Amino acid sequence: MHGRQVKAGQKVIFWWASGNRDERAFDSPMRVNLMRSPNRHMSFGQGGPHICLEMWLARLEVRVLFEELAKRISSIEPDGEQKFLRSNFIGAIKELPLRVVMQ
Ligand code: HEM
Repeated sequence: MHGRQVKAGQKVIFWWASGNRDERAFDSPMRVNLMRSPNRHMSFGQGGPHICLEMWLARLEVRVLFEELAKRISSIEPDGEQKFLRSNFIGAIKELPLRVVMQ
């Protein structure tokens, strides 16, 4: 596997959380880049047999959330260090301090 031999009985860890941060698939995978193209990420189980049946609803909900938020705030900017969740299952931001100025 990728130039390494896995011998019978050896354990292999499945590192799910790294899937969308694979440097062989994405340039600067740790960088948030909303304009990334192509962007063959695996969120919502894309590329697998259990693709999220309601990812379109979930995307709509997030779009409406940000559209409504954008109407109510005048600025939003980082206000401290972001912290990633320590997990081999879910890749997520645990803390992201923000300074939000309301209109
Ligand atoms: C931001 C919100 C959501 C995220 C991040 C998300 C993520 C996912 C992921 C990663 C999977 C694949 C799991 C796997 O491979 O085993 C999945 C499957 C699924 N999701 Fe979502 N989901 C979201 C919202 C929703 C909503 C709103 C619904 C329903 C109203 C929904 C219904 C389902 C169903 C039924 C499956 C299983 C499909 C199958 O096994 O064939 N999801 N979701």
